[in-house]
Amino acid sequence: MFEVRGKTVVITGGARGLGLHFAQCLAQFGANIAVIDLASKPSEAFLELQGKGGNHKYYQADVTDYDGLKSTIDTIANDFGSINGCIPAAGIIRDKPFLEHSKSDIDSTLAVNLNAVFYTVQHCAAKMKEQKSGGSIICIASTASHQSLWPQTITAYTASKFGVRGFTKQAAAELAQYNIRVNSISPGCMMTDMLQSVITGDESRRKLFEDNCVMHRIAKPSELNGIVVYLMSDASSYATAADYRVDGGVL
Ligand SMILES: NC(=O)c1ccc[n+]([C@@H]2O[C@H](COP(=O)([O-])OP(=O)(O)OC[C@H]3O[C@@H](n4cnc5c(N)ncnc54)[C@H](O)[C@@H]3O)[C@@H](O)[C@H]2O)c1
Repeated sequence: MFEVRGKTVVITGGARGLGLHFAQCLAQFGANIAVIDLASKPSEAFLELQGKGGNHKYYQADVTDYDGLKSTIDTIANDFGSINGCIPAAGIIRDKPFLEHSKSDIDSTLAVNLNAVFYTVQHCAAKMKEQKSGGSIICIASTASHQSLWPQTITAYTASKFGVRGFTKQAAAELAQYNIRVNSISPGCMMTDMLQSVITGDESRRKLFEDNCVMHRIAKPSELNGIVVYLMSDASSYATAADYRVDGGVL
């Protein structure tokens, strides 16, 4: 039931961070991976997946460019023959006091974290519908999609993540008729470049993040592997429109 072998999964934001970890994890279990990222080239870790079984390809694209992204996803469908899974994981964060958020901070955060999730899921779901194959979509929300994370100053980010959770519910309702399941994961603090950028320059924040959950530690990205394999496989065939918190017990 936990089989993902042979499925083709599109992962955005897979040049590093959680997206890269999802790619490594699913590749390890035999999935084919198409990574889309703004970065001009894939990470060494992604290149190391080549030759270890499965088909793994990297595509440079800006997920906020609706038409450019559509054409990349068309290319992926041609290259791989089908698309069975999608994880829109590209994301950005602006940690600035509410009154100092510029228009560009607000617009860019919503563009990457929310609008582009819609674009990615829509383009991938259109392929799944055409293929009549069903599929699984895993959106990446956050504990910030459930509550404020004071004293972090991330209002645009929080708004985008509440949006992702709402998007997941409605998309799941509309896509169920095509056997496409849509769920979200709400990770807590995962040690990635994004989190490091928030800690850098203010080490007191590390303690703050550690003490934000009952497990009193920051997680390794690999601690999301179980939920990702579950949701991508038929083991979760009756799971849709749900959000899964993996956050060390944020209260
Ligand atoms: N790290 C955490 O603690 C944490 C917790 C909860 C949720 N998340 C979410 O997980 C996702 C991944 O976060 P991360 O920590 O891996 O971040 P990261 O900064 O390490 O990686 C983000 C990736 O997204 C790519 N990206 C950004 N803008 C893009 C664009 N316009 N087009 C294409 N690619 C683009 C970047 O190039 C980068 O490779 C984000 O949605 C984030 O909000 C992270």
